Amino acid sequence: MKLTVIILAAGQGKRMHSDLPKVLHPLASKPLLAYVIETALSLEPSQIFVVHGHQGEQLKQSMTAYPSIQWIEQSQQLGTGHAVAQAMPQITDDSAVLVLYGDVPLIQADTLRHLCQSIQANKFGILTVNLANPYGYGRIVRNPANQVQRIVEEKDATLAERQLQEVNTGIIIVPAKSLRTWLAQLNNNNAQGEYYLTDTVALAVRDQATLYTTMPSDTYEVMGVNDRLQLAELERYYQKKQAENLMQRGVTLSDPNRLDIRGQVTAGRDVMIDVNVVLTGQVKLGNRVKIAANCVITDAIIGDDSEIFPYSLLENVTVGAHCRIGPFARLRPETVLADQVHIGNFVEIKKSTIATESKINHLSYIGDSEVGCGVNIGAGTITCNYDGAYKHKTIIGDHAFIGSDTQLVAPVKIGKGSTIGAGSTITKDTAENVLALTRVPQKTISNWKRPVKK
Ligand code: UD1
Ligand code: CA
Repeated sequence: MKLTVIILAAGQGKRMHSDLPKVLHPLASKPLLAYVIETALSLEPSQIFVVHGHQGEQLKQSMTAYPSIQWIEQSQQLGTGHAVAQAMPQITDDSAVLVLYGDVPLIQADTLRHLCQSIQANKFGILTVNLANPYGYGRIVRNPANQVQRIVEEKDATLAERQLQEVNTGIIIVPAKSLRTWLAQLNNNNAQGEYYLTDTVALAVRDQATLYTTMPSDTYEVMGVNDRLQLAELERYYQKKQAENLMQRGVTLSDPNRLDIRGQVTAGRDVMIDVNVVLTGQVKLGNRVKIAANCVITDAIIGDDSEIFPYSLLENVTVGAHCRIGPFARLRPETVLADQVHIGNFVEIKKSTIATESKINHLSYIGDSEVGCGVNIGAGTITCNYDGAYKHKTIIGDHAFIGSDTQLVAPVKIGKGSTIGAGSTITKDTAENVLALTRVPQKTISNWKRPVKK
């Protein structure tokens, strides 16, 4: 049988108290629904349907990265059985239907493969889990021979049934042909007045289908997000997993509870990450990279032995080997540092390349620049790159020395080996190996009397 996935996402998510559809709330900065779609895609199904409610347009706009998804509207939320039924006309009888949930983001492909591997005609697979506190879930009712008989929802359950700890995760796999028949026989005579997908279980038992159950390796895989407390709980769990993963691959974390990864991180050997670091997007750390406390690093490649000091922000940058960045440095997009570059405190660099062994150690802005190798840029240097309409380039040759408190008014080029005197405003290109400076001569007034208060 070919595999078809239906992802239910039509619920309103009232308990989120949000204008954003629940399944678009982010976990590690990625929408919940995207996790489920990516896991579904990894199973290589023939089709994936997402059943949505009235916020369909917003969902589609947010999921353009997954063009193969087919969207099905469920205009009224009449229950999970009704939701699945909306997709059935598009599904052929030679399929097996796997039902997932847009608000259950951490389900793992291996768990689903395990559930799906036994599927055959006249079989019905249910992913279940034992919970110490099963409140709110549908309970799995078994006969004395331990065979599944039906699922009873919390609100419809007797006191005795409520004691059952094996619960329905909601994730099932059923041959499409049978599912179609059973869905057509559902009614809404129950406490919630809904067409329950779970009632197909009793119909399958009646029709002598074989029911089987499997369990996930971790309960968190099947935890849903109904409110922001559960969202935060899943976020912490997910972050803990990622931190463990990094440590298992040879990264030292000062505190695994104080690292947040919102993307993909790869790291070489003996990397050290101090507390309160946020890594976002694609971050690649070389061997022995050290990241100090309170750094935020987004889409970056950091070379071997480089060290990022506290409170530095890096976004869309490439840093070579043996560099020293920060504390309090800000590297903005399209900054490329070669090896052994030093960027110190309160230095902002934007869209610039800095060649080997150059140093910009204090209080400077370098934008739209090409800085050669072995350049020393003194404190308080500004590249004036913007004339109010256009951005212009500053080019600084190898081994130039820029004295402190200098403005380089772009477009401008400083020749190799040139020296710029401190406090200069440089508006013209300079040749190689010259001293250029603009400076008002110093005045001295003898016996100067400072004003005094009367
Ligand atoms: C459902 C199961 C319950 C299970 C629990 C696991 C049913 C009847 N019950 O209960 O056995 O233990 O999940 O979390 O299936 N949805 C739609 N359209 C609808 C109704 C729901 O798309 O008309 C979606 C919701 O967005 C949600 C999911 O289906 O993602 C589950 O619906 P919900 O009403 O939360 O089901 P539960 O009462 O939690
Ligand atoms: Ca419900």
